[in-house]
Amino acid sequence: MLPRILIKETINKAGEKVRLSGWVDVRRDHGKIIFLDLRDMSGKVQMVVTPKDAETYKIAATLRPEWVVEIEGEVSARPEKMKNPELETGGVEIQVATIKVLAEAETPPIDVTSDGYDIGEDTRLQYRYADLKRPRLQKNLRNRCKITKFTRDFLTENGFTEIETPILTKSTPEGARDYIVPSRLHKGAFYALPQSPQQYKQLLMAAGFERYFQVARCFRDEDTRGDRQPEFTQLDLEMSFVDMEAVMSLNEAMIIKMVKEAYPKKEIQEIPFPRLNYKEVMNKYGTDRPDLRKDKNNTDLLAFCWVVDFPFFEKTDAGGWTFTHNPFSAPKPEFMDDLMAKQNIGNIITTQYDVVLNGLEIGGGSIRNHRPEALEKVFEILGYGKDRIEKNFGHMLQAFKYGTPPHGGIAFGLDRLIMILEGEESIREVIAFPKTGDGRDFMMNAPSEVEKEQLVELGIQIEKSE
Ligand code: AMO
Repeated sequence: MLPRILIKETINKAGEKVRLSGWVDVRRDHGKIIFLDLRDMSGKVQMVVTPKDAETYKIAATLRPEWVVEIEGEVSARPEKMKNPELETGGVEIQVATIKVLAEAETPPIDVTSDGYDIGEDTRLQYRYADLKRPRLQKNLRNRCKITKFTRDFLTENGFTEIETPILTKSTPEGARDYIVPSRLHKGAFYALPQSPQQYKQLLMAAGFERYFQVARCFRDEDTRGDRQPEFTQLDLEMSFVDMEAVMSLNEAMIIKMVKEAYPKKEIQEIPFPRLNYKEVMNKYGTDRPDLRKDKNNTDLLAFCWVVDFPFFEKTDAGGWTFTHNPFSAPKPEFMDDLMAKQNIGNIITTQYDVVLNGLEIGGGSIRNHRPEALEKVFEILGYGKDRIEKNFGHMLQAFKYGTPPHGGIAFGLDRLIMILEGEESIREVIAFPKTGDGRDFMMNAPSEVEKEQLVELGIQIEKSE
């Protein structure tokens, strides 16, 4: 039997016999001739079935969209005026000899050929496996793969090691609520799903890896928006022996190369990315995520900027202090004395740098407090008692006592970045199986109740709210 080839490979195979497999995209009956468009992951090609072979013709007449078939036939060059410039394979067609039906298909519950924007999102997500057939979503996810491959290549070539960190872990303060997971073996105790790999990546610096990265799944129990999901992906990295400049310039170079290679049509408005001071940005734009595009109608324009010089702390309603970004950050060197003396707290500037693209925050990071006594001061300013510090961060303070180098890093919101590069309005369009606005998965029906036995095993009782 002939080996299966992909549809796009038929382009240069005029005169050859081929075997193709895929989905029936459309069937058109023209008098005695049946035309079929066959689709696979590489594209579409036109098939021609004539009554010459009665058996094949009979099968062809029953085929409907989305049926899965295997065909054998001969590639023929189309006459000049029959060429279809809109199809990559438009110069050829397949003269079908045999058709084997591998699976029939009912009419899809939603139209899968349009761009889908006009279909209710709940329905799209309920039938996501069908929705994902949409060429737009196929493109988004394939390009997402290109971007992750690019970053993996770029970072490994620059000496980074990809390391996985736990999903079942303990709360990391990133400012959102945790998702918690009950432990069966330790009744009454809970794991937390990571809001980010922040603590682990710093501990990897303590362990001497020097350059770490991860395509990391993060979980935050917060209200979902167009640019926010309860479960999302960070491109997360950390580096040792660096200052702000080193982290920012490496990441800027990575993003520029990524855009040039994966989206050559896009135009970056300003290189190097402008660096804006938080106070000035707030005064000028009223937001710390300014949309700097000079022409907002130009869908190919990318206006990146860095925002720096954020205050480390801000006042809480209760009159105490909270961190603006990340409690593990170091202050800028000139504010270290103030931190150690716990004075002029509201004026301390952090080493935090945010990356903003077209008005959305796509990433952020900082240089960390690698000296345990300085980190301890941050927790004291936040009003954490000795017990709480020891219970929640004892492992970090301890680890930093055994020779931890100065380090810093960044995390990009991968979904957000791809959303903007793909010109989408919602990150749900670039995630294979996203949650609805209220955090549900209609397809799997999650969250859902669990068996009573499971609850008993976990020692959990449910208090039903009215
Ligand atoms: P931060 O909390 O700023 O930093 O997160 C980094 C980036 O992740 C993206 N992001 C989200 N994307 C989709 N849905 C969400 N719910 C969501 N929340 C955040 C944003 C954001 O810029 N550990 C630090 C990074 C570091 O300091 O190295 C952190 O998590 O694009």
